[in-house]
Amino acid sequence: MATTLPPDEMPTHWYNIQADLPEPVPPPKDPDEGPSRLKALPEMLISECLRQESTTERWVTIPEEILELYAQAGRPRPLIRARRLEKVLGTPAKLYYKAEFYSPTGSHKVNTALAQAWYAKREGYERLATETGAGQWGTALAYAASLVGLKTTIYWVRAVYDWKAERRAFMRLYGAEVHASPSKETKVGRALLKQNPRHPGSLGIAVSEGLEDARSDERAIYCLGSVLNHVLLHQTIIGLETKRQFELLGEDPDVLVSSLGGGSNFGGFTLPFLADAIHGKDLRFIAAQSETAPNLQGEYRYDFADHAELTPMLKMYTLGHKKEMKPIKGDGLRYHGCAPVLSLLRHLGYIDTVAYPVDEKHVFTRARQFIQAEGFLPAPESAYSVACAIDEAERCKEAGEAKTIAFNISGHGFMDMPGYAEVLGL
Ligand SMILES: Cc1ncc(COP(=O)(O)O)c(C=O)c1O
Repeated sequence: MATTLPPDEMPTHWYNIQADLPEPVPPPKDPDEGPSRLKALPEMLISECLRQESTTERWVTIPEEILELYAQAGRPRPLIRARRLEKVLGTPAKLYYKAEFYSPTGSHKVNTALAQAWYAKREGYERLATETGAGQWGTALAYAASLVGLKTTIYWVRAVYDWKAERRAFMRLYGAEVHASPSKETKVGRALLKQNPRHPGSLGIAVSEGLEDARSDERAIYCLGSVLNHVLLHQTIIGLETKRQFELLGEDPDVLVSSLGGGSNFGGFTLPFLADAIHGKDLRFIAAQSETAPNLQGEYRYDFADHAELTPMLKMYTLGHKKEMKPIKGDGLRYHGCAPVLSLLRHLGYIDTVAYPVDEKHVFTRARQFIQAEGFLPAPESAYSVACAIDEAERCKEAGEAKTIAFNISGHGFMDMPGYAEVLGL
């Protein structure tokens, strides 16, 4: 059973958790040595996004034109009760999933891509440069840029670029220039290729390349697909819709689950509910991660957001910005750090985490259970959310608990079949 929202119930504001945090998010800072990254921030980010980074207004108006773009991209999206899956599992738990996979490019990433591209166009830029891991963010930005009339250059982690030929073509269909990262296009990329011509790349490296590219062209601006406050802010459209849908159902989730790489879909889905937890409501939040990048089990300290140390330092849970992590099929989760807002909430005890083995067998087996019961194909990253929700439902079965578990399916896996095939031997 799917709960849709009438179009006139689509949220008109994004929710900013900074207004409700028990203590402020530690601000970005400069390293002890080298040029000031903080002073360079206005050259790195779209002005409106930079303003949104530190605003403490609780509700940020979504411009009318972005609301129209959201509607065109199929928002609001359904919340679906997984009745068939519940039956197969024989669990007393109720399972609900938010269908972010109903997206023109395949994932939740369009929610911030449309906003960033629209603001960039309004500020007079002609081109966007960015990183991508899974390829979902790159496609979303290429799509959004195409709709508002901008060019895009994408630096795509080579370990994924190499096996997702269809998504590569998809981005180019939108008119984007796509480079495997590390690439020969930037100083950062060339230096790494010199050390290893087949360097698999990482999100941290691709971020450095995107930043270097945009900063060398005054008509271009860099866009980031996760981690920063403004990205999570745009993504709260997911959780706000979900909250309203639960109200319409007369239900209340007990547990909220989602996958976490840099934190954008987890944050977007949970932040409106985390506000209730801060105000005393008994809710559990679980971030599903990979053992290749269990950043929420790292250290809570200042670190760079990119490999080449071009960004200011952010206070976050981190594995270290130079950490080498083995590529996986859900490679969008392979990032060294977690969004500062979520890191603070983890530090304060609001967020639990689970990290799944690098062979991904458990995760993809759970995704197969979901596919066979519910019919939808989750993206490899979203399969972590599915696996975690099913594991929780199994625990409820053992304990005889009728909890309500809500999970976010951040994207579809239509272009990721070689990943499923390899892991499951299809
Ligand atoms: C479909 C999908 N889900 C989740 C993620 C993880 O990123 P984030 O933590 O920013 O949601 C990615 C990243 O590429 C993705 O493509």
